[in-house]
Amino acid sequence: MRLFIAIDLPDEHKKALATLRSDIDGARWVPADQIHLTLAFLGEVNENKAKLLVEKLKLIRADTFSLALAGTGCFPNRRHPKVLWVGIEPEPALNMLALKIKSSVQSCGIPLEDRPFSPHLTLARLKIPAARPLDEFFDKKLEQHLSAFAVSKFILFQSRLSKEGALHVPVASFHLAPHVPTSGGPS
Ligand code: 2AM
Repeated sequence: MRLFIAIDLPDEHKKALATLRSDIDGARWVPADQIHLTLAFLGEVNENKAKLLVEKLKLIRADTFSLALAGTGCFPNRRHPKVLWVGIEPEPALNMLALKIKSSVQSCGIPLEDRPFSPHLTLARLKIPAARPLDEFFDKKLEQHLSAFAVSKFILFQSRLSKEGALHVPVASFHLAPHVPTSGGPS
């Protein structure tokens, strides 16, 4: 099965992000309910490794945190945009979680692309190079102010490819726990 690990967003944020759509030839917009923050893309994984992975992911201990949306951008660059996204404000706890997940995945013998973690929310993929500059998209701002959202779990998803596009099916969820400072001992 084709797997990836991601953080889901509140519906309010997904709906607001979908309002950033603009009329771009050849753009395939991610359906609002599928907008997510990818932590790791695993690709094809056999059932045994997937089971082992679930056990390893259960062992991860990480803090809850909040994420705030940042501005729009694209991969690989503005001259050849292929993926249009909205960024995430830097959050060390997010990077820490991604590192822990990477290490769990690799400990199952599942190879990962050796790309630095670059948190983003993909909104569209461009099949053909954009026929005109995408300033309209890059200049767009969210109409509604969105507060930071709390992250208390991450999800292992299966991506099922079909003619209509990819369907993301949750396989397992893993809860994060707030850090509780230990007391300084008896006074
Ligand atoms: P994205 O977050 O940049 O869009 C599920 O397919 C998710 O895995 C996508 O959202 C996509 O990242 C991510 N992904 C990373 N590498 C991929 C690849 N080679 N093929 C498909 N998806 C990939």
